[in-house]
Amino acid sequence: MPGRVLVTRRLPGGGLDPLVAAGHEVVQRPGDEAWSTAELREAAGTVDGIVCLLTDRIDDSVLESGAAGRLQVVANVAVGYDNIDVAGAGRLGITVCNTPGVLDETTADLAFLLILSAARLASEAESDFRGGRWPGWGINQYLGRDVHGAVLGLVGYGRIARAVARRTQGFAMEVRHHSRSDTGEPGWVADLDELLATVDIVSLHVPLTDATRHLIDGRRLGLLRPGAVLVNTARGPVVDEEALAGALESGALFAAGLDVYEREPEVSPRLLAAPRTVLLPHIGSATTTTRSTMAAMAAQEVCDVLAGRAPRHPVTG
Ligand code: GLV
Repeated sequence: MPGRVLVTRRLPGGGLDPLVAAGHEVVQRPGDEAWSTAELREAAGTVDGIVCLLTDRIDDSVLESGAAGRLQVVANVAVGYDNIDVAGAGRLGITVCNTPGVLDETTADLAFLLILSAARLASEAESDFRGGRWPGWGINQYLGRDVHGAVLGLVGYGRIARAVARRTQGFAMEVRHHSRSDTGEPGWVADLDELLATVDIVSLHVPLTDATRHLIDGRRLGLLRPGAVLVNTARGPVVDEEALAGALESGALFAAGLDVYEREPEVSPRLLAAPRTVLLPHIGSATTTTRSTMAAMAAQEVCDVLAGRAPRHPVTG
């Protein structure tokens, strides 16, 4: 039986199609303003499903309100789901789904872009150039680090990290990876500290959990080799931003490439001012194809649950 589905924001092309095809009533605002938690709480009690984004905080109060009504499923248009109280949803019998797999290559492209642009100081050089501060070619200008031949350390070894690893082949890089359980694959390093101390470039690919919050703190930044580059396309709070800014300011860390931040959309003024830093506004999966696919996938998950079918990508707390 068709139901009511809240879709919190405007979705890219075709994102609503599965809901419309299944005959569900789509509840959306005329504009594209974010929903406050209070508004989400009120709306959750009146719908069967929610399609939300990583910027929507689906906390216990929203889920409780949904459970008091008829809410069955929350589908996040993202692979990460730290914005949703998944354990709470489990207790209340509400299914939570995400969109894994379809954004791996696109996000890996962006991680590689950050590896290259941070190591080669592209942002600083472009900013000087655009700002009229380039006096002409100079042999000592913008001396970066070579990416080809470098040792890359992947923290986390899920699908996105593996997609980054595949991209290193053309750059003749050596790849090491750290994950909590032994992958049984060449390059696995059991101890994160050891990995950090033995690579030239570090790229982060862990989800945000209690165990990974500030995984990269001041002490661990201090383990990195002189000249190291840090890239984060995972979640901002995995890195202690103040410590990171300090490491960049002192030169202990050569460069950083970031797509995610501790308090999005706020960015630490110290990071904004930090040298040798490439900052992008959380665009890891932002291509038309990938974002449209993610949106339609989340909508399909809602359709499946409301039709009594097993969702393909349920997540548990
Ligand atoms: C993006 O950050 C995602 O989790 O999909």
